[in-house]
Amino acid sequence: MVLRFSSLASIELTWLLALLFILVTMIQVHGQIPTAGFVNIDCGWTNSSAYNDSTLQLQYLSDGEFVEGGLSHDISAESMAGAGNEQQKTLRSFPNGSRNCYTLPSINGKKYLLRATFTYGNYDGLNRTMDGSTFLFGLHIGVNFWETVNLTNWDQAVWKEVVTVAPASNLSVCLINFGTGTPFVSSLELRPLDDLMYPFVNSSVSISYFKRIRFGNTAEFLTRYPLDQYDRFWEAWSFSYNTYPWIPLNTSSRVRSLPGDKAFQVPEDILKQASTMDTNYSFLEINVGVGPNLAKNLQLLPIFHFAEINSSNPSRRFDIYSNNELLFSDFSPSPFQVDSMHQSGRFLHNPIAKFRLNKTRRSRLPPLINAFEVHSLVRMDNLTTDSDDVNYVKEVKKHYNLARITWNGDPCSPREYSWEGLTCDYSKSNQSPRIVAVNLSTSGLKGGLVISFMNMASLENLDLSHNNLTGAIPDYQIKSLKVLDLSYNQLDGPIPDSILQRSQAGLLDLRLEGNPICSKVKDTSCSNTKKKTTSTVLIAVIVPVVLVSFLVVMGILWKLYWKGKSGDDEDYAMYEEETPLHIDIRRFTYAELKLITNNFQSIIGKGGFGIVYHGMLENGDEVAVKVLMETSIAESTDFLPEVQTLSKVHHKNLVTLQGYCQNKKCLALVYDFMPRGNLQQLLKGGDDYSLTWEQRLYIALDAAQGLEYLHESCTPSIVHRDVKTPNILLDKNLVGVISDFGLSRAFNDAHTHISTVAAGTLGYLDPEYHATFQLTVKTDVYSFGIVLLEIITGQSPVFNDPQTVHLPNWVRQKIAKGNIHDVVDRRLLDQYDASSLQSVVDLALNCVENAAIDRPTMTEVVSRLKVWLPSVSSDKQSTSGTPRRRYSMNTDMPKQFQLMISGVSDAESSFQSGYTSGNGMSQATLFSGR
Ligand SMILES: *[C@@H]1O[C@H](CO)[C@@H](O)[C@H](O)[C@H]1NC(C)=O
Ligand SMILES: *[C@@H]1O[C@H](CO)[C@@H](O)[C@H](O)[C@H]1NC(C)=O
Ligand SMILES: *[C@@H]1O[C@H](CO)[C@@H](O)[C@H](O)[C@H]1NC(C)=O
Ligand SMILES: *[C@@H]1O[C@H](CO)[C@@H](O)[C@H](O)[C@H]1NC(C)=O
Ligand SMILES: *[C@@H]1O[C@H](CO)[C@@H](O)[C@H](O)[C@H]1NC(C)=O
Ligand SMILES: *[C@@H]1O[C@H](CO)[C@@H](O)[C@H](O)[C@H]1NC(C)=O
Repeated sequence: MVLRFSSLASIELTWLLALLFILVTMIQVHGQIPTAGFVNIDCGWTNSSAYNDSTLQLQYLSDGEFVEGGLSHDISAESMAGAGNEQQKTLRSFPNGSRNCYTLPSINGKKYLLRATFTYGNYDGLNRTMDGSTFLFGLHIGVNFWETVNLTNWDQAVWKEVVTVAPASNLSVCLINFGTGTPFVSSLELRPLDDLMYPFVNSSVSISYFKRIRFGNTAEFLTRYPLDQYDRFWEAWSFSYNTYPWIPLNTSSRVRSLPGDKAFQVPEDILKQASTMDTNYSFLEINVGVGPNLAKNLQLLPIFHFAEINSSNPSRRFDIYSNNELLFSDFSPSPFQVDSMHQSGRFLHNPIAKFRLNKTRRSRLPPLINAFEVHSLVRMDNLTTDSDDVNYVKEVKKHYNLARITWNGDPCSPREYSWEGLTCDYSKSNQSPRIVAVNLSTSGLKGGLVISFMNMASLENLDLSHNNLTGAIPDYQIKSLKVLDLSYNQLDGPIPDSILQRSQAGLLDLRLEGNPICSKVKDTSCSNTKKKTTSTVLIAVIVPVVLVSFLVVMGILWKLYWKGKSGDDEDYAMYEEETPLHIDIRRFTYAELKLITNNFQSIIGKGGFGIVYHGMLENGDEVAVKVLMETSIAESTDFLPEVQTLSKVHHKNLVTLQGYCQNKKCLALVYDFMPRGNLQQLLKGGDDYSLTWEQRLYIALDAAQGLEYLHESCTPSIVHRDVKTPNILLDKNLVGVISDFGLSRAFNDAHTHISTVAAGTLGYLDPEYHATFQLTVKTDVYSFGIVLLEIITGQSPVFNDPQTVHLPNWVRQKIAKGNIHDVVDRRLLDQYDASSLQSVVDLALNCVENAAIDRPTMTEVVSRLKVWLPSVSSDKQSTSGTPRRRYSMNTDMPKQFQLMISGVSDAESSFQSGYTSGNGMSQATLFSGR
């Protein structure tokens, strides 16, 4: 807008105003410092001094300090002339390693736009892009997959952009070698965004550039910084798609955005132009899906930027479609104000990437559009390694100057690219992976031991053997470490007490053999015993001599026994090998068990498998530690697979396995402690206490549900084999939970002499199983029937009355005599629901039918028991959640939906847009964001 002043005198005022205006502009520009935080990297540029890009007026740095490895190259002399800018003339290639990462500085939690460009320029003289073979490599943003770079049959530059939230104080971008061409990169550009921008981008969702277009008549193929202060790339539609009768519009008036609307911040100069078409036409199609990029199953998020820039206040209304899905109906652009239409964060399946604006019936003019973006979804599901662990392991890497090809990018994530020699714990799926073991054996380490190792709070196993480490062992404050292997180094300093004590207490497996220090001290850690691969810590436990001799005698007897029995050789290796299985629960050492059980003081039970002790974990949780009998250790090959299965079984009526211990010294399972004891104790109880009828039925139902879960929901189904009242435990709320399930399988199949102990207890034995040895879930149903009878009667399964009698027979006799009420536990004092009694007794007797086929399944049992109980309140607690609003923008939109009937029939053919081939664009195309 031009101000006109009528008098001469006011010319001076104009000058003044103009000056003032310039000043204000300068201050504004200065105040914003639009390029603050820009990181501009020219990959492969070897001169250590930065240079100023003459067109952009931005400083570009060499990539040396942001990356390790890789080779710098210039593109071929023939390609130099065609290079779009200085950055495209050099590149860095990564012939070695499957993942190579750049690490860029960032602010944790801040939103960034990151762009990478790729110009092959035949740098290696191999003509890889045009020789007909596949040329494809991958990009990761941090630890998540971002995009593939497809240079097959493409000799132009390519760019990729991602909008993402920095997960830490640095942001990494990695090139992934798929084995189809050496990855390379020409430039990397990092632009901090306003955190209000692209509001659907958060720490778990990033977006990858698919297309960003400005409409109208523009002179430049590409619009970027400084016009866009965030340096986004806007392609000019007029260049790429100029084959139809588009009508460009432009205005010199201001186009504003609503105050506070910072979501996209499209540059005003871009909004001042638009494209529409002749009034004969009724729809406008944006077809960006042509090209090799779309073979993928992308999820797209389109953003349409509209502003009415025709000042005659026209009637212009249209429907907005993504392929055939209506996104917004009867939209009308606001005069000189931008509306950025998107369905807040909803990604669409639109395999052909076609978008259409259809004029509605009451509209006088055809649609218009000013700018358009479409992004694809990048899921950020994989978490980066715990940041402390990352820092410490990087300190180690730096300290020892380790140049390992895989020690690049995030140490643990994604799993398939984790650093060689590290073992990470991924078991907590919503938490960052942690480093639990570091193996730098035979890695040529020199100098002293760096403290960073011990700062890794989850580190359990550190192997630094066979290096040239010198000096003393620092006085580490170790927490989690269980194995410290320093053997075969040059360590000669003293062993600090903190470490020595832990080692002698059996909490740390310390190995020092082959160090000069061993000539000075005579610690067990210096003796080269055959515990090379032992992963657990069981040395130097001071055991009373009596116990030792007892064990020796036991051991000899046991070996003799087994020699005669099965000819087992004396290979103990199986107890010492690191388990290849992945078990998510805690592995205890013998020393830890000793600690938590207060030296195995309090026995809370004895059973077929061993003795159960009360224990208390470090966090105060009470546990039951079931130490399996010495003889059972022989069967332990099946033990770990069984533990693995059990660790995955979770049900409110099954006791939770917290951990296990397996090594030469112990075989134990650690369960949640059940404070109310077992059902047998409770039924027998003192005369002063008795469970009510309702409590009894609830416990029966609990047990039935637990069994139903084992039978029906586990694959393969788990047969308990030893269902009995001592194996039904009660938590503090008298909820019944089943224990000892699953064990029998591991302990019985191979060794039948134990199965007589474990596969059932006298009185609970399924007669059919006894006869046929065909084990089915119905075996448990039988035992459950006995349990149910015990619950009703308060009697043992077998008792003297006065002759020995089996409980089901006793009940049947009583019923035959006509009075069912005689079977009921006297302690109930007739306080029971007589109406349910008959049914429950019927159910119990049904369960103990001699023929398995006549017995109900546990599912039937559960449903029959439920009939007699008011529905269990805990089952009613359903997860409550507010339904997500899917279309937040739609609430602002008129709901009216008008189907357009086209005015012009031949419109469609003339409006098919998109470029037809790479050749058609080449004269204008410096880049393609394909
Ligand atoms: C590096 O660049 C500077 C400035 O552009 C130039 O003076 C210098 O000669 C260059 N050094 C090398 C080794 O190319
Ligand atoms: C690259 O290979 C293709 C196919 O073999 C050939 O047509 C083209 O001329 C080659 N280009 C160069 C620069 O060697
Ligand atoms: C996350 O990691 C897993 C396993 O390493 C990998 O299969 C998956 O593709 C990764 N996800 C993403 C989004 O990169
Ligand atoms: C890469 O591009 C080529 C040539 O355009 C195409 O044939 C191929 O399907 C593309 N590959 C992928 C994975 O996109
Ligand atoms: C340790 O250093 C010595 C001499 O410096 C060298 O001969 C030896 O090979 C090194 N040992 C290891 C394991 O690197
Ligand atoms: C848009 O209009 C065209 C022509 O008027 C019509 O053929 C087409 O069905 C409309 N599109 C949709 C998705 O309704």
